[in-house]
Amino acid sequence: MTIRSVFLGAGCFLPERVLTNHELARMVDTSDDWIVQRTGIHERHVAAPNEFTSDLALKAARAALADAKVEADSIDLIVVATSTPDNTFPATAVAVQAGLGITTGAAFDLQAVCSGFVFGLSTVDALLRAGNFRRALLIGAETFSRILDWTDRTTCVLFGDGAGAIVLEAQEQPGGRGDRGVLTTHLRSDGRHKKKLYVDGGPGSTQTVGHLRMEGREVFRHAVTMITDVVVEAFKATGYTATDLDWFVPHQANKRIIDGSVHKLGIDPSKVIITVDRHGNTSAASIPLALCVGLADGRIKRGDLVMFEAMGGGFTWGAALVRL
Ligand code: UT7
Repeated sequence: MTIRSVFLGAGCFLPERVLTNHELARMVDTSDDWIVQRTGIHERHVAAPNEFTSDLALKAARAALADAKVEADSIDLIVVATSTPDNTFPATAVAVQAGLGITTGAAFDLQAVCSGFVFGLSTVDALLRAGNFRRALLIGAETFSRILDWTDRTTCVLFGDGAGAIVLEAQEQPGGRGDRGVLTTHLRSDGRHKKKLYVDGGPGSTQTVGHLRMEGREVFRHAVTMITDVVVEAFKATGYTATDLDWFVPHQANKRIIDGSVHKLGIDPSKVIITVDRHGNTSAASIPLALCVGLADGRIKRGDLVMFEAMGGGFTWGAALVRL
């Protein structure tokens, strides 16, 4: 027998306001054609002025608890992966905790930009398997609209707001190939690239929030190699191959990056969940949002073998293989 972090349910939330490429073309020198051809994005959701990351996170968390059919007070760990917290501190996770009426256990934020959900999954998995906690909420939630320079066409067309959450529980599994739960996680960072995708402000440097800056072409150049390397590590660690996967649920930054990775890995394109067309890049929220969409429309089912991967600012990158 072995302890594994087993998936109990998922939920997500998108702000009501949809911002189309056509609207963006009236704000900056861009076009629907350019955005669709270079990124695959058609539209993204944007939070209302009074809607914070914690509000999106709380709604996704409630949906995940309902899907998992568990009570909020049974959760003893809440991790929110975000780079757009409500405040510098306290953690957005404690706002979610209070919103759910939970007064026990622990809640904290984790910041690995677009790789936040995979880094969070690895962290939560380790804490559950070590016996520190029993049942966890892992949330990816972002309001990148707040850190975009809306006059910079090279970045403002790419990102969106949203949140996705999953519930995980430490459970004994037989310890064999059919085990449910998180099977392996692989995390990487390389700070030499920190200026290629960053925010030009912060509490310690400028005492302002700052705006997202990116050398898009440079990020793109590294993305497919980094993603495929770490996915291959996950295959090697478990003995599974691309043909064993039921679903590939990648971070949704750019359809061309996803297509390039899928091709290089030999994954059947019909097994890939794509949401970048409707959500844009929602950073740490993109994977749980995509998972949620795939579960809700019935494509992804319990027991399916699912590979998650992400790459983003830092650079950070990682992969996780899970049997739902
Ligand atoms: O979440 C993880 C981190 N993020 C990513 O993974 C993003 C990675 N990068 C990308 O997805 C792509 O590099 C972008 C979508 C950001 C850009 O696509 P690209 O094919 O790499 O274009 P580019 O940056 O090489 O720009 C091509 C041209 C440039 O014009 P010149 O210099 O060739 O005259 C840009 O100025 O497109 C121009 N351009 C635009 N034109 C219309 C840049 N942004 C826009 C725009 N509309 N929004």
